[in-house]
This record gives sequence, C-alpha cells and structure tokens, in this order.
Amino acid sequence: MEVTSATPVTARVPAKVNLELRIGPLEDDGYHSLSTVFHAVDLVDHVTVRPADKWSVTTTGMGAGTVPDDETNLALRAAQFIARRVGTDEALAVEVAKNIPVAGGMAGGSADAAAALVAVDALWETGFSPLELQDMAAELGSDVPFALEGGTAIGSGRGEHLVPVLSRGSFEWVFALHHEGLSTPAVYAECDRLRGTDPVPEPEPNAALMAALRAGDVDALAGNLHNDLQDAACSLMPRLTDTMNLGLNNGALGAIVSGSGPTVAFLCADHNAALDLMVGLTASTICDEVVTATGPVHGAHVVHDVRPR
Ligand code: C5P
Repeated sequence: MEVTSATPVTARVPAKVNLELRIGPLEDDGYHSLSTVFHAVDLVDHVTVRPADKWSVTTTGMGAGTVPDDETNLALRAAQFIARRVGTDEALAVEVAKNIPVAGGMAGGSADAAAALVAVDALWETGFSPLELQDMAAELGSDVPFALEGGTAIGSGRGEHLVPVLSRGSFEWVFALHHEGLSTPAVYAECDRLRGTDPVPEPEPNAALMAALRAGDVDALAGNLHNDLQDAACSLMPRLTDTMNLGLNNGALGAIVSGSGPTVAFLCADHNAALDLMVGLTASTICDEVVTATGPVHGAHVVHDVRPR
C-alpha cells in the first residue's frame, strides 16, 4: 500500500465501567473467564498520529508521568501492529492526551490502543473492514474490542467476545479517582484467596440487569450493579469501602468498584444529583479527584474538533 497522507489524525475514545463483572474459576492459562457488562462513558482520551522519521509515543494529561514511552505503551503497540498489517516502513509519532485514569480499572490503556487503531486506519486509509479492526483489537488485548465498539455490551471469554445490549436513555455517573493504583493480577489473586476452595460457577449475565437497561430504569440498574472483584479490591485498599459509603450517604443510587479498581463509580438519579455528589466527594479527602460522566457513548472514532473535557 502506498502511504500518502501527511495530515495528523486524532481519535477520541471513551473509558469503560463494568456494570457487572462476574469472574469464573482460574483457568490453566493463569486467567479467569468472565461475564461482564461493559458501559462506555464520556470520560475520554485523545490519540493523535502523524507521520514522523521514527516511531515515538508521548503522553500528556492526567497520570501522564506513569505511562511508559517505550514499546510497552499500548497505543504505540497498536499503531505498530496495524503498520505491520499494512506492510509499510513509514513511522509515526503517537500523542496521547489522557483524561482516563491510569491503572484505574477503566481500561485507559486499552482505550488508547483502540484509538490508535482507528487513527492510523484513517491516516493511511487502509480499507480494513470493521470486523478486521475488531480482530486486530482482540489480538491487542481483551478490553480493546469494547473500546472500539462503545455503547453497552456483554463481554465473555476474557471480555473480547461482545454482544451489544439494548439500553434506553443515558445514565449519569460520578467517578472517585485514586492516584495510587491497584495491580490487576494482585486483585485477581486476592479474589481467588478470598474465595478459598469453594467451587466457582461459570459466570453468566444477570437477567435483572438486562431488564433494567432495556427499561432505562436507573433505580433498578443501581440495585443490580455487581463486581466480583470488589471485595478483593476493598480488601487490598480498605478506603475504597469508605469511599463507596460516603457516596451512598451523599445521594448516589448505587456504588461499584470499576473493574479491578481503584476507581469507584457512583450511579446518580440525574445530572444535578451527580454535580451535588461531586461537590460532596471533592470536599472530603477520601479520594484524589472526582469527575462526572455520562454513558453510554460511542467507541473510538476520528474527530475533527479536539476539545478534551
Ligand atoms: O489482562 P491483563 O494482561 O492486564 O491481566 C493481568 C493479569 O490479571 C493476568 O496475568 C492475570 O493474572 C489477571 N487476569 C486474570 N483473568 C482475567 C484478566 C486478568 O486472572 N480475565
């Protein structure tokens, strides 16, 4: 393929929260099968790619100092992955502007990989089909396909097999961020430790949660938020329990640890309730930062007006 475009391309990509995360038994490969309901929220990163003499990645914004700038960076890996598929020798400079918390359980790294895929795809006009991009996303990581897809979707396997969920209306969220990260393997290991030797059933989506989403019923949704990793995350970082209780006492309808944490997600009745809760949490010293967001939103897509929120 001849590479001609020299104009930089920017893609916007949302964070995810797991409305439900059910973890199966530990498999022989060291991973757990899972059943989850992903929900994309408008807490977004932007990834810009531009032609350059050599490959590079730079990160700005929240938590930028902790993001690697070498080949382990997921956005760079995604860009180089699609370059290999295209079969070009061209190099790119990849710039990531972060709002999604780093190591926060909101799939920020996977989001950047998805954004890099669509930005490079657009820059080089590769002509890959959506299905081919989805396959590439799955090869890059289990959470990357959902970051590409967005909306609300059931994920199975390790989260890479997606089925869209019928959902009505939109939901207002508040996220309590903690700058101190939680290690994903440590949280899974703690989950195994807490479960002990009890047999673990194969994980399945909860029908009541699906009904709540179909009806756009925020109270029913709040009552059906569930995360099998929550006890493990709270066991490793007890102040997450205090954070959840504070939010519930300040008007949140529901509270859940996002993914493997340490971000705590609060579901609110409406935007004003979310703003009130944000003020209440910010006034406390229980977490390091508080943001509001709305979901569901679209997955990674090219943008022409770059206005980070
Ligand atoms: O997906 P990622 O490579 O970030 O996972 C890091 C670690 O978290 C894995 O090596 C494994 O220990 C644990 N994990 C798991 N089951 C999953 C996902 C992650 O046990 N489905």
